[in-house]
Amino acid sequence: MQEFSRGIRKSSSSLGFVPTMGALHEGHLSLIRRAVAECQFVVASIFVNPLQFGPTEDFEKYPRTLEDDRSKLEVVGVSALFAPDTADMYPLGAVTTVTVAGLGDRLDGASRPGHFTGVATVVAKLLHTVGPHRAYFGQKDAVQLAVLRQMVRDLNFDVELVGCPIVRDADGLALSSRNRYLNVVERGQALVIRRCLLAIERSISAGVLEREILLADGLRVLREEPGVRVDYLEVVDAKTLLPVERVGAGNLVAVAVWVGTTRLIDNFLVGLKA
Ligand code: PAF
Repeated sequence: MQEFSRGIRKSSSSLGFVPTMGALHEGHLSLIRRAVAECQFVVASIFVNPLQFGPTEDFEKYPRTLEDDRSKLEVVGVSALFAPDTADMYPLGAVTTVTVAGLGDRLDGASRPGHFTGVATVVAKLLHTVGPHRAYFGQKDAVQLAVLRQMVRDLNFDVELVGCPIVRDADGLALSSRNRYLNVVERGQALVIRRCLLAIERSISAGVLEREILLADGLRVLREEPGVRVDYLEVVDAKTLLPVERVGAGNLVAVAVWVGTTRLIDNFLVGLKA
């Protein structure tokens, strides 16, 4: 992988990178299409990173669909697929990790201790290995993106991180590899997430800016589905991930819920269409 990238950079061509854990859906493909449109060469990676899963999380059952993914990547025109195995990424004796203090413990980081150390560590390793000029991430994982932007700034990575819009199914559910865990009933229940965010968006458009009121509006909607358990609903500064008392343009409204045994997340940036 390093030799391939070195060759591209030597030829002064632009190199884009889309890291994924596979089980590719239209959300991933939208990142890749954007990268293909903006860069001369594009590398996609597929690696289900054990370091970012907690001991009781879904690492074992996480969908692995390499052959199907490979065909999709060919169609959208990636130049190379990097699909290392665990021993390549974490050789015996590897002990160094990357922790983004503070940010990494907020929102999803609070619910999933150690998750963002796993994400930051693997993304740091992937960026070092692929050496792209630009790396593309989905805005659906807004907390991940904030953590990675901080890491890139703090550790002087010579890469531009590009955040790309959330892609949704026709009924509004944000695309996620984990949606495939949902049964038909749960799939219906999960739509409450979008209704919750739309209710908050409507309140903001009507001039309601106080965090407490907005969260109460959103929670009222989420409670319409007794099968859905709220992990968090927050209004935060999109960079620091700290709660804001009054919402302003560019702030992040983020939600995480459990639908049965599946944890789903969604969000929107205030003042920008989700
Ligand atoms: O967003 C993901 O799919 C993963 O967290 C990432 C960035 C590929 C790191 O494993």
